[in-house]
Parts: sequence; structure tokens; C-alpha cells
Amino acid sequence: MTRRKTAILISGRGSNMGALISAAMQPEYPAEIALVLSNRPDAPGLERAADLGIATAVVDHKEFSGDRQAFERQVDAVLKDHRIEFVALAGFMRILTPFLVGAWSNRMINIHPALLPSFKGLATHERALEEGVKLHGATVHFVSAEMDDGPIIIQGAVPVLDTDTPDTLAARVLEVEHKIYPKALALVAAGKARVAGTRVTGGECDAEPADLVWP
Ligand code: GRF
Repeated sequence: MTRRKTAILISGRGSNMGALISAAMQPEYPAEIALVLSNRPDAPGLERAADLGIATAVVDHKEFSGDRQAFERQVDAVLKDHRIEFVALAGFMRILTPFLVGAWSNRMINIHPALLPSFKGLATHERALEEGVKLHGATVHFVSAEMDDGPIIIQGAVPVLDTDTPDTLAARVLEVEHKIYPKALALVAAGKARVAGTRVTGGECDAEPADLVWP
């Protein structure tokens, strides 16, 4: 089996990164985490990755003084140096230009803490509570030019409880994230989940039937 060389791009703590690295430690997992790259030199996830024996790199966006494309060209060069085939964004807090999105078209995936297309952007858990939705969750999708958009690979759902705060909801969604992201990367790396127009064939829904009806 070919293990596809994958880079994870992070900006922060990297808990999803950790879940992907753990999954990829299984010999039969179809992706190998060959690089963790951060735009922030102080991202705690970098140390965690290095401790786990993964190559790390920093491309500090602040050194490119607002020139997003120059920053992305450097990111792209580092990815190519490491012979990366797939990219998984995991809390990578940069808005991407069409340059990087185009360069990695159908080979770059992202995780978002909401059931897209609802609640794009930030503060998803606060907004889900404000709107009173009864189901919330997380989405892994291919990256397209629009932020938090692109063909959906997997969604995982959790019920929203009357007693939830943004923090308790975030914690339950994060558990789902750690489950669905490794599944999604495996489907993509193995060529099972593929883009077909605006949709993905071979994707999954990750929810217990009991989660789908509430209360
Ligand atoms: C996650 O909630 C992810 O869905 C979002 O950013 C957060 C990153 O968390 N894109 P972590 O760094 O993976 O812990």
C-alpha cells in the first residue's frame, strides 16, 4: 500500500493534528504525516509534532508584511521540498488566496467546527447556541476559493443540550472532530472520497442514529 505524504498546517494547539498523527501511526493507514507546518513560530502544536518525531517547518506570515501570495508561495515551496501530496488544514488561521487553493485543488482538506454550510467563520458554537439549533457538529471538506466552503467529505453531529455553554458544546464537537478528521483523510488519501462537481462521492455521515433525533 502506498502511504500518501501528507502535511498538516496549523496555527495553534494542534489537537486535530494530534488525532491525525495518531491515526497515521497505524501501518495500514493510507497517509503518512510527513510534515507539520505552522505560520506561527510559537504554535504549541509544533513542539508536540516534533516530540512525536514529525518534521516541522515555520513560515511566519508576519515576515511577508501583508503580501499573502508571497507567504503562500513560500508555504508551497516548503510543501514541494517535502514531496507532499495532500494537505490537511487543522486550525490554520490564514485566509487563503486562489493561488494556494488552486495549487492544491482537490488535494487540500479542512476541518470546520460546524455543520456546513451553517455557521461559516469564527465563534461557531456561540452562534449555534444563539440560533437555538438542536444539532451541531463538525465538517471536513475539500478547500475551495471561498472560506469554509468546498465539497463535503464527512460530517459528524452532536445534539445541543439545554444546559450547553459554548465551552461544553465546543468540547463535544472537538471529540467528533478527532474522530472524523482521521476518517476523512484516510478516505481522501486512499482515493475513496473524490470530488464530483460540487459534491464528494464516497464520503460519510458520522452520527449515531440516536444523535439525529433530539430529545
Ligand atoms: C478546531 O476546532 C477546528 O475545527 C478549527 O480550529 C480548531 C483547531 O483546534 N478549524 P486544534 O488546534 O486542532 O486543537
